[in-house]
Amino acid sequence: MTTLETPPAYERLVELLREKKILNSCGALLGWDEQTYMPPGGGEHRANQLALLAGLTHERATTPELGDLLEQLKEIEATADPLSVMAVNIRDARRDYERATQLPRKLVEEMTREISLAQQKWVEARRQADFSLFRKSLENIIRLKREEAKILSREGDCLYDALLDEYEPGMKAEQVQALFDPLREGVIQLLQQITDSPVEPKTEILKRSYPTSRQHEIGQAAAAQIGFDFQRGRLDTTAHPFCSDIGPGDVRLTTRYFENFFNSGFFGILHEAGHGIYEQGLNADQFGLAMGDSVSLGIHESQSLLWENFVGRSRPFWTHFFPKVQGLYPESLGDVTLDDFYTAINDVRPSYIRVEADELTYNLHIMLRFELEQKLISGELEAADVPEIWNSRFTEYLGITPENDAQGCLQDIHWSAGLLGYFPTYALGKMYSAQFFKAAQTAIPDLTDQISNGEFRELKTWLNENIHARGKLYQARDLVKVVTGNELSEKPLLEALGAKYGEIYGF
Ligand code: CO
Repeated sequence: MTTLETPPAYERLVELLREKKILNSCGALLGWDEQTYMPPGGGEHRANQLALLAGLTHERATTPELGDLLEQLKEIEATADPLSVMAVNIRDARRDYERATQLPRKLVEEMTREISLAQQKWVEARRQADFSLFRKSLENIIRLKREEAKILSREGDCLYDALLDEYEPGMKAEQVQALFDPLREGVIQLLQQITDSPVEPKTEILKRSYPTSRQHEIGQAAAAQIGFDFQRGRLDTTAHPFCSDIGPGDVRLTTRYFENFFNSGFFGILHEAGHGIYEQGLNADQFGLAMGDSVSLGIHESQSLLWENFVGRSRPFWTHFFPKVQGLYPESLGDVTLDDFYTAINDVRPSYIRVEADELTYNLHIMLRFELEQKLISGELEAADVPEIWNSRFTEYLGITPENDAQGCLQDIHWSAGLLGYFPTYALGKMYSAQFFKAAQTAIPDLTDQISNGEFRELKTWLNENIHARGKLYQARDLVKVVTGNELSEKPLLEALGAKYGEIYGF
């Protein structure tokens, strides 16, 4: 009988974690509003609101009561089934508490100040395309991140592991490298075959006139059709698309539209809707706890990429959607065939800017950043040498050389924001998504037909049951193994890309 009772310490822990998450979600809502509807004059007051909330959240995250409760729950955590709801929630709460309390206040404050300065320097350096203006800031950030990593790293880990662990819990740099090495080789080989192909996608099709109100209409309809629930979510417009989970029953998507470029709005919506479907599929009863939370950034990205690329850039998807889009834009698409449209949205060519890169070359952009980050953190590379090594590796991988630092090592906000260890999660997401989609195809034998008919319910339910509803029960690699029956591998991604581009480019 006693084993069925919930210990009071656990109940109190749940209460505290929920309050922390609610505070957090207030900040998320203010952040969403800042990016969407806040008038420019509200900026300063908003910063004050967010700073106060951040302080309150930090207080909640580090309150000694949490430490006491976790101490009391040690025994239960150690003896319970490690995959039981209680054990998972306690383990994750301990991990968060340790991360939040281990870093000295002085270091956190210094980091906050340095990031704020570095962002200003980065904006200016990028504007002038001159890395030397940002060099000192990057040096400071690397120094502070190394300090942070030294404090957080566990025995046997390299410093970079401690940083990666924040975004992709449990993943090690060595494991990522072992996946990236063959992935890079495979991607470069495919890129060579595409470059050699005489097929030239008619990308001009996508740059015709696409009035944005209709882009919103078709994008919103597509998001609803793949399974994003608009009773529990919204879609609005911003400068930089994102998905924000406010809480159970409220998930906000944003996108941006360009009248003369169709892809940005439509695929941006599918991408964010994929994130949103994950959030809507989380277990609301476990709100604020690990069992009601997403696994990692990489797994989150796998859900957006699965819908954006494996569904949204597939031929069956456009068999269903192309006539609808054509009907909305008869002047721009009246003379275009499904085949030309499908080929154009899957155009591959080397380019300088990561966020504008195609599905294939994107991987190379990520690997380059991952390699440089590791060297910066290990001390093997000095900040001053970043532009040179960036440009030479970029040329080696993509066959083109950035003309300046704005086109090269200054393009991303991440390093100036102290986000080191974040980049690899994008490419991990690609590998997870390929492996999940392959498993879904096996589980749903007529999936291709369903997608051609505009039916997505079975796929969405499969994702809900196999991934979303599990919360943080498993870390990313274990989840992949449990869901797909195989260890995480670069092969499903390379196979899928090879099959798709082989058909399009004729090799
Ligand atoms: Co994303």
